[in-house]
Amino acid sequence: STDAPLVIAMDGPSGTGKSSAARRLAGSLGAAYLDTGAMYRVATLHALRAGVDLTDAGAVDHATRELPLVIGTDPTHELVELAGEDVRVEIRGAAVTGAVSAVSAVPAVRERLVAAQRALVEQAGRIVVEGRDIGTVVLPAADLKVYLTASAQARAARRADQDGSADRAAVLADVQRRDHLDSTRVASPLRPADDAVTVDTSEIDLDGVLDRLHALVQQVEGVR
Ligand code: DC
Repeated sequence: STDAPLVIAMDGPSGTGKSSAARRLAGSLGAAYLDTGAMYRVATLHALRAGVDLTDAGAVDHATRELPLVIGTDPTHELVELAGEDVRVEIRGAAVTGAVSAVSAVPAVRERLVAAQRALVEQAGRIVVEGRDIGTVVLPAADLKVYLTASAQARAARRADQDGSADRAAVLADVQRRDHLDSTRVASPLRPADDAVTVDTSEIDLDGVLDRLHALVQQVEGVR
């Protein structure tokens, strides 16, 4: 039935079309949607506003211990607030994007956000959760784990289109730098869970990805 709990974990690097796919999948399943990257971005904005040294993990921990964050889980209506202020645009800006790797590498920050993520999932019942460590750390018992991937070239091309950036070589270098940071960090490095299904989006568009995801959902719902 459509109200049976269904928890879908979607992980992978940026530029794979993960956010669009996760949001649309949730919408068509009548499920909630949680963007965990947005939560790390809000923590980063909060630390930036506090003016702390981002290379000092203790200071970042301290500055984000109190984090008045509200994140919505409606796939058709994005809601991200910090102390009641709408920060949807600011968390996508260059300052936050440049600093988020440092903040998301701090274990104490991750512990608090992971606890908040699990509580939101508990509340929702049916939900698509996207991030980097959802299948490996946050929700190891998810009903379906998908790892979206794509070549660095394909991801850089999507990024350049999104930001309207002309300098493809610089975008590719930045994609490779972030991949390296995300996959080599000590706390919850980016990697597919052992039981994740990997979907390579280098050669398929969003509709193709959604077809593939719906087929996977049908498989897991069929066996229950
Ligand atoms: O998906 P995104 O670009 O909005 O994610 C922003 C940053 O947060 C990215 O550098 C990786 C980090 N992140 C994380 O460490 N764990 C998650 N579950 C989601 C995002």
